Amino acid sequence: MCGIIGYLGERQATPILMESLKRLEYRGYDSAGVAVIETGDGTRHTSVTKSEAKVDLLIAKLKENMPTGTVGIGHTRWATHGKPTIINAHPHADCHGRISVVHNGIIENFAEIKAELESLGHEFTSETDTEVVPHLIEQYYKGDFLLAVRKALQRIKGAYALAMFSLDDPELLVGARLNAPLVVGIGEGEYFIASDITAIIPYTKKVLILGEGEMAAVTPLGPEGSTLDGQPVDAKIVHVDWDVAQAQKGGFPHFMLKEIHETPEAAANAFRGRMTDDGLVNFIEFAISDDHLRRYHDVRLLGMGTSLHAAMLGEYVIEDWAGIRARAEDASEFRYRRPTITDETLTVVITQSGETADTLVGLHQARERGSLTLAITNVVASSAARDSDGAIYLHSGPEIGVASTKTLVAHLVTQYLLALRLATAHGRVSLERREELARGLRELPDKIRRVLDNSTDIARLAHKYSRFRNFMFVGRGINHAVALEGALKLKEISYLHAEGSSGGELKHGPIALLDPDFPVVAVCTESSTREKMASTVHEIVARDAPVLALVSEGDGSLDDIVTDQIVIPAADEATSAVLSTVALQLFAYHVANELGRDVDQPRNLAKSVTVE
Ligand code: G6P
Repeated sequence: MCGIIGYLGERQATPILMESLKRLEYRGYDSAGVAVIETGDGTRHTSVTKSEAKVDLLIAKLKENMPTGTVGIGHTRWATHGKPTIINAHPHADCHGRISVVHNGIIENFAEIKAELESLGHEFTSETDTEVVPHLIEQYYKGDFLLAVRKALQRIKGAYALAMFSLDDPELLVGARLNAPLVVGIGEGEYFIASDITAIIPYTKKVLILGEGEMAAVTPLGPEGSTLDGQPVDAKIVHVDWDVAQAQKGGFPHFMLKEIHETPEAAANAFRGRMTDDGLVNFIEFAISDDHLRRYHDVRLLGMGTSLHAAMLGEYVIEDWAGIRARAEDASEFRYRRPTITDETLTVVITQSGETADTLVGLHQARERGSLTLAITNVVASSAARDSDGAIYLHSGPEIGVASTKTLVAHLVTQYLLALRLATAHGRVSLERREELARGLRELPDKIRRVLDNSTDIARLAHKYSRFRNFMFVGRGINHAVALEGALKLKEISYLHAEGSSGGELKHGPIALLDPDFPVVAVCTESSTREKMASTVHEIVARDAPVLALVSEGDGSLDDIVTDQIVIPAADEATSAVLSTVALQLFAYHVANELGRDVDQPRNLAKSVTVE
């Protein structure tokens, strides 16, 4: 997500904030800002400087008018609520500009808190969820800043890493975290709060790691850790010996591997604040009534590359759960056909960047034909978001590896929510089923973590299979798209030949390729066609091709049949499809790495294809 830096010490804060924000740039962002406490002539005020674009612009502004002071906070923003503008850039303040806050994450209940504070007379200036934090602290402030912060944080639901200060307590910098990372750097007579070790690594290697739901009160005497309700916690201080490049990758050798490890968070961010325990879905950015939604009997999902495979999974669940006709389409083909789109069609564009040329043309054509259009994208105010009737954001944070990983997982979860939303509006889903599906989604982040825990085993298999030059990926039902995506991931980053087929189609041609040097990756996890897939595996084994099967935990039926297995946690078929996808991302990563490929920037590929 965004980047946070805070400083309290003996040096001037502004140059340190500027340098640290430069080091946080690699994460991707759209705007930036700093706030510094300036003291002089017995008065005190906060100097705020913001840029609606790059950090360099912010630095130029700061150099022109350099705030002086030894306490400050800075932020690089990746927009989630509200466009990248000066007003929406952080830091945000209370009504009187006394409290300054920078935030990473999503505040789920901000709308409710904002309405309450507005009724009490608070005036908001931005569209962000973050702005409720300084106002809520202001509301609770009765002379003790730390206490007011604690009370405010106990009201806030969702995910946050926060750094904040108050003019009323100028030697106190407060950091807090829940479901988002935050560390405190301990230097010589100076302290740092950062979302990311990268920001502070040139200044100190001594770092206090905050736990979930913990906060740190940093004064010139040092940091004191506590829980949100004020119970002291033991400081977990570690020594990091990473260089800046290692720190940017969070200690992982590649961004792709780091981003695969961020998939649990990406899944959680995609449903955070959008789904009740009984499976009622509400997209704040795409608020549409049940009556209105019932007008649509046809859903077109347009995408390219990995996003097309995401769309295929969307097609499956929308048909299965909502009983509505759905079709995933290659946007580059769609644009040259005469699409049978009407005003009963809902067109959904699946695009992490929101800038893929073919997808945008498809979107424009659908709109011209009277379809209601919706973009599911990771980039706020991207072309797809602007040109559609509605936009739903993935909230995955920037993805740097060219091959999409965490944004794919977020696309799947978001489409599952959309399918549930449609199923509810059309009255096609029972309360029990809704609860069951919602439970499956809530358990997903932990189950993905269990797949990641199995990384060593997947790396071992990748090592074994990296000697082959051709691969076939096979799946049925919901897992057909999983197989196609597994093949795409492998070919794009390892440059090995890999193709995907449905289990049924295999017999109609691709099976002729199989021999002992042509392995098959068979997705045999939980699905309504699981038994059929087992028959397909028997057909493959009869051709002497090695089979690497993905199976659900507890299913031993292929134990003596296939060559190797990757076991994923048991789950319903939609959840299993996400788990298999992550396992195959890891497999592709490790094969490519084994072969010494440029995993983050594979040859001939671009992260976003903005030309036809
Ligand atoms: C490029 C990227 C893929 C991505 C595709 C669609 O080919 O390399 O990773 O899936 O574009 O991108 P989009 O931004 O529309 O999801």
